[in-house]
Amino acid sequence: MGILKIFRKEQPENLNTSGYEEFLKVYPEFSETAFLDDLRNKEYKRLDKKQHVYLDYTGGNLYSESLLREHLEYLKENLFGNPHSTNPSSLLATKKAEDARSYVLKYFNAEDDYMCIFTLNSSGALKIVGECYPFNSTSHFLLSYDNHNSVNGIREFAKNQGASFSYIPINYEDLRINEQALYSSLDSYSEKSNKLFAFPAQSNVSGVKHPLKYIDEARSKGWDVLLDAAAFVPSSRLDLKKVQPDFVCVSFYKIFGYPTGIGALLVRKEMFSKLKKPWFAGGTVKLASVLVDKHYLTHNHERFEDGTINYLGLPAVENGLRFIESVGIENINKRVSVLTDFTLKKMQELKHSNGRNLIQVFGPQDNYSRGGTIIFNYFDVNGKKYPFDYIQELSNSENISLRTGCFCNPGIDEVNTCLNTEELKNYFDSREIIDYNEMYDFLGKLRGAVRISMGIVSNYSDIEYFLSFSRKFLDKELN
Ligand SMILES: Cc1ncc(COP(=O)(O)O)c(C=O)c1O
Repeated sequence: MGILKIFRKEQPENLNTSGYEEFLKVYPEFSETAFLDDLRNKEYKRLDKKQHVYLDYTGGNLYSESLLREHLEYLKENLFGNPHSTNPSSLLATKKAEDARSYVLKYFNAEDDYMCIFTLNSSGALKIVGECYPFNSTSHFLLSYDNHNSVNGIREFAKNQGASFSYIPINYEDLRINEQALYSSLDSYSEKSNKLFAFPAQSNVSGVKHPLKYIDEARSKGWDVLLDAAAFVPSSRLDLKKVQPDFVCVSFYKIFGYPTGIGALLVRKEMFSKLKKPWFAGGTVKLASVLVDKHYLTHNHERFEDGTINYLGLPAVENGLRFIESVGIENINKRVSVLTDFTLKKMQELKHSNGRNLIQVFGPQDNYSRGGTIIFNYFDVNGKKYPFDYIQELSNSENISLRTGCFCNPGIDEVNTCLNTEELKNYFDSREIIDYNEMYDFLGKLRGAVRISMGIVSNYSDIEYFLSFSRKFLDKELN
């Protein structure tokens, strides 16, 4: 399409940042987070050294240098062996894993009421719930359109056990859960037992913070509640004394960047015995026999931690949480919130000279009850939508890490693209194998969007750079 030619790469330090003073006048509270700029210079030097504009914090957070140093030092200085034994190296690994477990519980104010099961990631935590929740022909699984595929996938476990499932729609205008439909669903299925309701505390796509009051409301109506907190906890406090979902999943790399490969399922203690593990594995049993078909599962978190836990990575989880505490999650929240408000306003101001909007933001148009994740599409001067892969290519060439596509959240995309059940069913019923481009042709609709997300060391220049990238589309025509 040749549009790459019109793009000239700006160096972040050449940007005109005179707007910064104006920005500070509008958002004086931003100065209270100025220490995060120092933190960026000290701990995240690689960002500016590589002139990289990182806007994918919801995909994965960035790690601080000190976190790496501390962890590597610890590994260098100590001998860790496989836990599940009583030799000194094994005992040390066990102790550090248990320290990390206690710290996670403390961090979420969950020490009294929850158990912490370490998993590979949030998806691993969600899989435990799907696999072990006692779905049967009298159960119901209720979930919002806005969910990550790792939650959507639980419906397969439900279906396989003969349970029914249904979705609560979200509003087209703001991508928030339709409360009328929610309350009507929560009041239905009274004949069912083992009813599970799942929703994200924060959408990984629209950034919407869904009200946590739904947890209590659902529980008081006899539902068990699964809260997907993966996208919420990197910039918001989750206090499990204040809200008490039955199951919560998190991924630690989303909170402090390093290590990947560790997440947790927090289970309300009273719900522990409700989860029925369908098999056993090393580390999960007290005793199993070969001669007799018998096994005895452990009575704690180990029941759900199959095989060897990530014992070399776990000490870094405690360090990571301490690091976030030293920065202060409220400070991260404040910075992200200000930058989100500013970005949303500036994006909406961008208009072609004929008055058409350059950008359509999906979901909330303002900063009320939302996190720092924004999805949108670009439109040319004639109102034609830019394909997201095109934007990806261009932003890559400008060293901006943003994300495009459907973000593992088909519900949001189906709403944004105004797809209906019939047209999707026609498509799915006529195909065994799918191909995206062919699907767009069949549906006559271009799916997908662009997503930016902010986090711990996002700064004004990142946003200014992104906006200057966006301005390059002004008055351009897509051919
Ligand atoms: C809200 C939400 N849930 C679940 C997941 C899955 O997390 P993971 O890929 O770490 O398993 C993500 C990842 O982006 C997410 O944002």
